[in-house]
Amino acid sequence: MNAARSHSPQLAVVIPTYNERGNIAELLLRINQALPDTHWEAVFVDDDSSDGTAAAVRDIGRNDPRVRCIQRIARRGLASAVIEGMMATAAPFIAVMDADLQHDESLLPVMLQTLESTNVDLVIGSRLVAGGENQNLSRGRRWASEFSSKLARILLDIHVKDLMSGYFMLRREVLDELVRNLSGVGFKILLDILASAPRTLTFVELPYRFRSRHSGESKLDSNAAVALAMTVIAKKLGWLISPRLVAFLVVGGFGVIVHFAVLTSAMKVAKLEFVIAQSIATLVAMTSNFVINNLFTYRDVRLRGWKWLSGWISFTVTCSFGALANVGVASVLFHERFSWSLSALAGILIGTAWNYGVTRWHTWQLK
Ligand code: GDD
Ligand code: MN
Repeated sequence: MNAARSHSPQLAVVIPTYNERGNIAELLLRINQALPDTHWEAVFVDDDSSDGTAAAVRDIGRNDPRVRCIQRIARRGLASAVIEGMMATAAPFIAVMDADLQHDESLLPVMLQTLESTNVDLVIGSRLVAGGENQNLSRGRRWASEFSSKLARILLDIHVKDLMSGYFMLRREVLDELVRNLSGVGFKILLDILASAPRTLTFVELPYRFRSRHSGESKLDSNAAVALAMTVIAKKLGWLISPRLVAFLVVGGFGVIVHFAVLTSAMKVAKLEFVIAQSIATLVAMTSNFVINNLFTYRDVRLRGWKWLSGWISFTVTCSFGALANVGVASVLFHERFSWSLSALAGILIGTAWNYGVTRWHTWQLK
């Protein structure tokens, strides 16, 4: 019992992987060198990579029981992979690290030492505190990363400098406190953890130099910033409305601007009659709403080709009925002697609810 106990891991390093075969052996070598005096284990969580990453991990695991692989079938997602990896270990300290050697493994013992000798909840590997470096990220990515950090700082009141860091270590108990609140979508697991905690977590940011990728290529595309904004919205307003509805409303608001721009130019410049100008403006605004919603609000189920065309028809027809319902409800209420503004508001509310509910179900085929 005692011998077994002395070999149970003190630290688990959770490593999400997607097509990282070329990095596994080198990463384990470096972790091993960085932690000579620690009982550690490495928990890889692989989403059934086509390059044989999981098999490569198991190959090493056959000779080294510290190395394990959770291979998820028909699943994708960095955040959910990390959560499952963290839940699969008994170690009292858990680190999360990328597989591509961009995260400096020599920080691992310092992170562990910090957690063992203080009572902070979380240690974050940071590119944005003095001594850290973030050169190996494209300018666009760096901008997106800094912008979204600011957004989260304002909306969620979280004051971590490198909020987008994928490199951190925490205590098991801290995870247990909040794991049921995690949204698990997207790839911002650190933000998810900080925003999901029932209390404000204490943390230390330790600087490191973000290196360039060892082998393979990045999986996080430019849509990442949109996905992040969605996460922030979900966290902030999830109990009230879904991020999709928020996006749909923002797009709708933009549609009103498009509508008035087209209407004004059709009347003032092209000298068209109001009814004709209004019809053209309605069609243009509906189309632009469809295009933008298809690109962002429903980007995960985006319609393409013929489906795009049938989606556009479904969207415009649905929204035309929405407009009829809007005008109908408003007229009835107005007739019943409600004020014009209240009647209009009720009409807009009913019309928007109809548009959202029906296009979600019919145009983008979601349940
Ligand atoms: N299991 C699993 N499933 N792993 C994934 C998935 C997935 O869907 N997508 C990515 N990974 C793994 C990769 O294999 C890698 O080990 C790690 O997650 C990070 O992915 P990269 O593709 O290397 O991300 P990056 O280098 O562009 O972004 C890094 O820097 C960002 C900061 O700008 C990551 O550390 C991000 O978390 C970080 O926000
Ligand atoms: Mn990377």
